Amino acid sequence: MSARVAVVGSSNLDLVVTAPQLPRPGETVLGENFRTVPGGKGANQAVAAARAGAACDFVGAVGDDEFGTRLRASLVEAGVDVRGLRTIPGPSGVALIAVDRDAENFIVVAPGANGALTQLDADDRATIAAADVLLLQLEVPLEVVIQAADWARAEGTTVVLNAAPAAVLPPVLLDLVDVLVVNEHEAAVVAGIRSDDPPVLLDALLELVPRVVLTQGARGAAYADRSGLRLTVPAPRIDAVDTTASGDAFTGALAVGWVERGGATTEDTVTASLRWACAAGAACAQRAGASTALPERPAIDALYDATYRGTP
Ligand code: RIB
Repeated sequence: MSARVAVVGSSNLDLVVTAPQLPRPGETVLGENFRTVPGGKGANQAVAAARAGAACDFVGAVGDDEFGTRLRASLVEAGVDVRGLRTIPGPSGVALIAVDRDAENFIVVAPGANGALTQLDADDRATIAAADVLLLQLEVPLEVVIQAADWARAEGTTVVLNAAPAAVLPPVLLDLVDVLVVNEHEAAVVAGIRSDDPPVLLDALLELVPRVVLTQGARGAAYADRSGLRLTVPAPRIDAVDTTASGDAFTGALAVGWVERGGATTEDTVTASLRWACAAGAACAQRAGASTALPERPAIDALYDATYRGTP
């Protein structure tokens, strides 16, 4: 079954500097290269899903500036349907990103037009209703995230929330989530606990949502659901260049793999979906930038086969 994915989320132009190391508070470091790259967690996940093989619709907002024109064009070029992308007077979203030689980054986002996406309309509802999966993140106002999730639930569309950037979430949203995707930091914030122990984090999050995917970077991912299924998958071994958008590549591919495997509820199908998502995240980390690094399906398949073939 081929997947139809709807994304309601952000788009940012990423202003990226590479540097020998990331600055500490109050410190200036001399960087190396500078470039601009289309990004934003929502747009990245839409492009990731499209490149992974889904029909993908993006609902979001850009400003009426040059950045907005570029962000729109980048989504169109990736084959994403942008009929739900508004152009709003004012600046587009921007992310300041520094990447060090260990491929680590820091990111600061100025939301711009993303912050003006406070209300969805009947066309957006139809887009959500037509999708198998609705992908959400937390770079647009919470009220619109809740509205989208509420409509998805009413229309029978699976809600996947990537709770990034990390935030404390209201029960009204958590009650609408089918699958929560978080890294360990986000997991602790959403769960409201101080722990970096995956089983503890998963237990706490299962009190809030029915299924949790915990991303663990180079270590892979863990999964738990309320039926009692728990598993972990290792990540492919790669030389990382830039981990920006790896989580977005993971989440976009997870949504596609999940649908293609019929909703991924057995141990085998969940394992395969998570492995495929890990392959997408790792393939992304092998290249620089956000949307520029998101892998096409053949690259995901190749890394998946190279890493997991012959593994039960
Ligand atoms: O997840 C990576 C993304 O986070 C970047 O593209 C940046 O725009 C921020 O939204």
